[in-house]
Amino acid sequence: MFFVLAATIIIFLVIFYAGVIFRGSKWQRPPLPPGPPGKPFIGNLWDLSSPDKQDWEHFFNLKERYGPICYMNIAGQPLVMLNDGRLALQLLEKRSSIHSSRPAHPFLDIAWNDQVSFSFQRNSISRGRTSLTKTFEGSKRISESYKKAGAIILKIVYGYTIEPHRPDPLVNLADQAMQGFSIAFSSTTWAVNFMPILGSLPAWFPGAGFIKLAQRFKTDALALADIPHDIVTQQMKDGTFSPSFLSEVLQKHPVKPGSKEETILKWSAGSMYAGGSDTTVSSISCFFLAMALFPEVQHKAQEEIDSVIGDDQLPQSEDRKPLPYIDAVVKEVLRWHPVLPVNVPHVSTQDDVCEGFFIPKGSWVMANIWGITHDPSNYDEPMSFKPERFLDSESVDGHSPAPDPHRLVFGFGRRACPGRILTDENIFLTVAQCLAVFNISKPVENGKVQKITAAFTSGLISHPMSYKLSILPRSENHRSLVEFLEIRYPWEDSHAELLASVSKA
Ligand code: HEM
Repeated sequence: MFFVLAATIIIFLVIFYAGVIFRGSKWQRPPLPPGPPGKPFIGNLWDLSSPDKQDWEHFFNLKERYGPICYMNIAGQPLVMLNDGRLALQLLEKRSSIHSSRPAHPFLDIAWNDQVSFSFQRNSISRGRTSLTKTFEGSKRISESYKKAGAIILKIVYGYTIEPHRPDPLVNLADQAMQGFSIAFSSTTWAVNFMPILGSLPAWFPGAGFIKLAQRFKTDALALADIPHDIVTQQMKDGTFSPSFLSEVLQKHPVKPGSKEETILKWSAGSMYAGGSDTTVSSISCFFLAMALFPEVQHKAQEEIDSVIGDDQLPQSEDRKPLPYIDAVVKEVLRWHPVLPVNVPHVSTQDDVCEGFFIPKGSWVMANIWGITHDPSNYDEPMSFKPERFLDSESVDGHSPAPDPHRLVFGFGRRACPGRILTDENIFLTVAQCLAVFNISKPVENGKVQKITAAFTSGLISHPMSYKLSILPRSENHRSLVEFLEIRYPWEDSHAELLASVSKA
């Protein structure tokens, strides 16, 4: 009798608490956003894009079927894809305090090592990020000399000067590591990111080819973290170092060789190069491509420079205001092909509701930046390169200028790119100074103008596919100006030889 009573009470309590839990959560909570139907166990795993496909177009197509906010369940991992700028700003910017964590990234752990997570993945927004932003904000003046994008970052992070006229070994090494980085970091590409157990498969196992690929990336990534770090520590010992992010940190907080702190510092510096070099190079490469494809934009931009600056000097940072068309060209470069077409995932640390839809805690919230900057309701003829869309003077017939892409292409809220001020300045100077002195056009071979097309690589950081160009001085005056500047601001001696000696040691 006692047991029957006890069992009845237990059953009653279970039903009561289950009722409370369900009432407080699932039954009363709003619906999940719409999305493609999932399969048992794997959910929407097959609804993700493959590594060689352009995932931004794939995700953009979901908007037609499911609307601006779309939900997928990837083997148990909730993923919310935002194809609308207003919603991206609402969730990731205004409610940044609860949507700014980063997901674990098992593919990166295999590809690199678990220390990388300090810089890229984990949930804390480190003090390092703050000092990173300050370093970049204070570094604007460095970008004022006209140099390659990657070179500027190497200078800021390591004080390293590249070979000006020959291939530089550190730039080559970094390029190789970056190719792996871009593929590895594409979060939705690797099934192992959703099913970490796959990472324990042996590399020979059918379907586990990603493990071999990850191991290949590792060698290059380790070299990129170690070699420039070793150069700076060697220079600090010899008293020959140039001030840089790394030397400044090491002077303030010396770390023991081989310690965990040293590894973290190496990867933090490496992550700045990783975050900054390839992205800026891609934007500049988009600019050259656009100028060859849209010559009328180039002419208009050059007319503005000629009338405001003349032909005997180069535009400088302070000339940005009187050069509104050039400023609009920079915006259009960033919009036309955002170099991170799909944003790095943010993870929600609390349940939330957006437009009446439930966003569960732990969701990956991703913004399709390309989709947003190609939304025809904000950017008409989105595939065309039209800087005019950003000008006040063009806002006739009640149309206001198109939304500034700076708010979108550098990400959102607490995770927004810490290098955005530096890179924006760098792109402005490159655009303004190149257009001031050069004509950029399609190449001519055997008297025939060659065709070039706007095609882009897949991966986290997307580049234009390789293309050929003709770049010529606009006139004899412009040629003399370039030659004069090269004498006035001679190239510095590179550190390439030092790199060879450190690599051999
Ligand atoms: C055209 C150039 C660039 C673009 C379009 C760009 C874009 C982005 C985007 C979209 C993110 C992700 C933000 C988010 O999750 O919401 C990001 C993060 C980041 N960027 Fe950039 N970036 C550029 C240049 C740079 C430069 C020059 C640096 C450094 C020198 C840099 C360093 C970083 C770092 C370290 C992060 C990770 C921030 C974090 O997780 O808290 N980026 N960038």
